[in-house]
Amino acid sequence: MKIVVLNGSPKGKLSVTLQYIHYIEKAFPQHEFSIIDVSQKMRIIEKDNKVFQKIIDEVGAADGIIWAFPLYYCLVHSNYKKFIELIFERDVTDAFTGKYTAAISTSIHFYDHTAHNYINAVCDDLNMKYVDFFSAAMQDLLKSSEQNKLKLFAENFFKVIENKEPTTKNYMPLIHSNFKYHQGDPASKVEPGDKKVIVITDGLAEQKNLNAMVDRFKRSFSKDIEVVNLNELDIKGGCLGCIHCGFDNICVYQDKDEFVEFFTTKVLSADILIFAGAIKDRYLSSKWKLFFDRSFFRTHQPGLGGIQVGFIISGPLTQLPNVKEIFKSYVEWQRGNLVDFITDEYEESSHIDELLQNLAKRLVDLSDKKYIKPVTFRGVGGMKVFRDDIWGNLRFVFQSDHKFYKKHGLYDFPQKNNKVKAFNRIMMALTTIPFIRKEFPKRIKNEMIKPLQKILKD
Ligand SMILES: Cc1cc2nc3c(=O)[nH]c(=O)nc-3n(C[C@H](O)[C@H](O)[C@H](O)COP(=O)(O)O)c2cc1C
Repeated sequence: MKIVVLNGSPKGKLSVTLQYIHYIEKAFPQHEFSIIDVSQKMRIIEKDNKVFQKIIDEVGAADGIIWAFPLYYCLVHSNYKKFIELIFERDVTDAFTGKYTAAISTSIHFYDHTAHNYINAVCDDLNMKYVDFFSAAMQDLLKSSEQNKLKLFAENFFKVIENKEPTTKNYMPLIHSNFKYHQGDPASKVEPGDKKVIVITDGLAEQKNLNAMVDRFKRSFSKDIEVVNLNELDIKGGCLGCIHCGFDNICVYQDKDEFVEFFTTKVLSADILIFAGAIKDRYLSSKWKLFFDRSFFRTHQPGLGGIQVGFIISGPLTQLPNVKEIFKSYVEWQRGNLVDFITDEYEESSHIDELLQNLAKRLVDLSDKKYIKPVTFRGVGGMKVFRDDIWGNLRFVFQSDHKFYKKHGLYDFPQKNNKVKAFNRIMMALTTIPFIRKEFPKRIKNEMIKPLQKILKD
């Protein structure tokens, strides 16, 4: 069979993920593999339609397609996202229709599920026959147990194609609306005081709802607030995955374009941040993805501490819980406070006006009170993944993170807590005594709330 592999790594042939593909190639020599470096060659693919069309022709002639990609900010690399956008924009979806497909990624398992949800949804939108995904940790291929899993995964994929087995869909098509938002005038204005309010948007002239929502939000304030359009920033290119930033957070593009300066002086120093964009396929635009990828020069260091964050989105966000999940995770692990998402889905301009005005008020109130809501599993679990990897395998690569984690007490391993260690030792010993073991279930509920009740009493 002929299998086309769409390589999503900006490192091309030097991709970790690609080594997993080569493993499959070796294990199944009866199949012919064609690997296309989509992310690395994006500039030429976008510019030269012949190059793009050649890829689409290969896809059209294949028996199976493998999406092979590294995780980039809970999704795929911005160039890979751009490629997906081009498939729809250039109306070549037919080449993908009915093709059997599977996805393989490597990552450190930080929100790998949201990236796979995204690719699965894109495949469903393309009416492909999505078989399964394989999410490996970067070094899994070194273990024979994981090699075996990969072989079984690939074997199953080829078997499904050969037997023309039916596949399920996980995502229904998105329903888009033609509603036109017309902004009204604010009855009163929100006083931002000395708060630095920054709106970042990627609004293009034709994105009327998005631009009007941003404008209406801006007019909610008594003072002028800054709006930065990502399309007007000089950003030379996408993240190269070179990890030049690992030692001291210096990006390989550092002074070559405006991104690092913008991110440092505007984003990280804001009191209130608004991210504004329109839904494009199953996420925002690849321009927004570029923003997140390039912010990786801060590596794994939370940077939104104390910042109030709001989202203004045009498009069917409520049908895309995966997108909300990604942004909630982004703000939580960065230690910001996500206040709300306002969209144009309400189909009533005056209601959207109210929501935008109210968002402005809440952002300022919460900023005054320095309120950061407690993090959920997204922030707690996410930071544990980073903590363990930075302390372990990734320490020498991300030396700047190691220093940061040490300095800010982020190495909060439970085994370092001597009080808990001593307490556990005593309790473990006591619970070996038959009487205490028997009493334990009767007492545990009371004992659990005792310290909390003491607080209430005080
Ligand atoms: C800019 C950037 C963003 C990343 N984002 C994530 C992420 O969100 N989750 C994760 O688990 N790994 C993330 N990673 C790690 C890569 O996915 C991982 O190193 C992968 O194995 C690289 O594969 P490749 O060599 O094929 O490009 C990120 C790496 C970079 C450089």
